[in-house]
Amino acid sequence: MPSTVNPHRGVADVPKTPVSVAPGLLDEVPRLRTKDLLSIADLSADEILLILDTAEAMKEVGTRSIKKVPALRGRTVLNLFFEASTRTRTSFEVAQKRLSADTVNIAANGSSVAKGETLADTVLNLEAMAPDMIVVRHASAGAGHLVGRLCKARVINAGDGMHEHPTQALLDALTIRERKGKIAGLKVSIIGDLLHSRVLRSNVLLLRLLGADVCVCGPATMMLPGMSRLGVRVTNSIDEAVEGADVIMLLRIQLERMDGYFFPSRREYFRLFGMTPERLSRAETDAIIMHPGPLNRGVEIASEVADGPYSVILDQVANGVAVRMAVLYLLAGGVQ
Ligand code: CP
Repeated sequence: MPSTVNPHRGVADVPKTPVSVAPGLLDEVPRLRTKDLLSIADLSADEILLILDTAEAMKEVGTRSIKKVPALRGRTVLNLFFEASTRTRTSFEVAQKRLSADTVNIAANGSSVAKGETLADTVLNLEAMAPDMIVVRHASAGAGHLVGRLCKARVINAGDGMHEHPTQALLDALTIRERKGKIAGLKVSIIGDLLHSRVLRSNVLLLRLLGADVCVCGPATMMLPGMSRLGVRVTNSIDEAVEGADVIMLLRIQLERMDGYFFPSRREYFRLFGMTPERLSRAETDAIIMHPGPLNRGVEIASEVADGPYSVILDQVANGVAVRMAVLYLLAGGVQ
């Protein structure tokens, strides 16, 4: 791992990591310091840049006619998805297959969880089958930490309740760096349902660590207490948040996590906080629009914006495969 990496550098001065995906070279792979990737707080700025550089190299594999390298041949990866997912689940599986890992998918429906088995018992039984890595998505915050404590296998948090979604923040950072050439100094405005969003938490940690100027904006009923302590600007005015922004990241209204009434109606939310072409015109002329998906069209984002020239939403999805390949590869580098 590079010993001195300047987190404020742009893409132009980032030396390409000599990532080898040849067989038998895992011993030479730089290693992440922690056994598991559960939170962006597990990573240093150096490690984040290492993951982004490695992901850039991994993108090349996806351009080959045979999109496969043997880097994780013989490694067993379990994908434990106990909550709905399209992008994360599919991109982890695609990433594992591109690295030649043996992949097993387990969902709550169809597993003994549906018969009342606890997460801990399920995981102890799976650990007895000696997997090398476990990717876990769960509706409860801290589920990944529990799995990590119970298992020798390396654990990747693929989203735990309202807590964190570290690989989403990493793929967002890769997309920003590709489009803007840097992260430090950019004005990044994150707008929407702050209270329920794990994407917000991971992105704020990462973007602040890499030197971005972060503003968060949402309705008063969906603000997250203590945000200003993380060094971000907080506002309820979408016009203020959009003004001069280089990057606008919209957060999904998490209807499935709302047990009360946080706004009068979807139409009202769109009128006050929805991203429209008119609102977007206040941003920098080369601003990019991001959204982790799935989209609520006509609620947090107008279709003209989601499908328009400023949108990098599908680039984020494409980068999800490369970032997850990088994380799997670098974590496996430490498997003894
Ligand atoms: N961004 C994201 O986590 O999407 P999925 O819920 O489809 O995985």
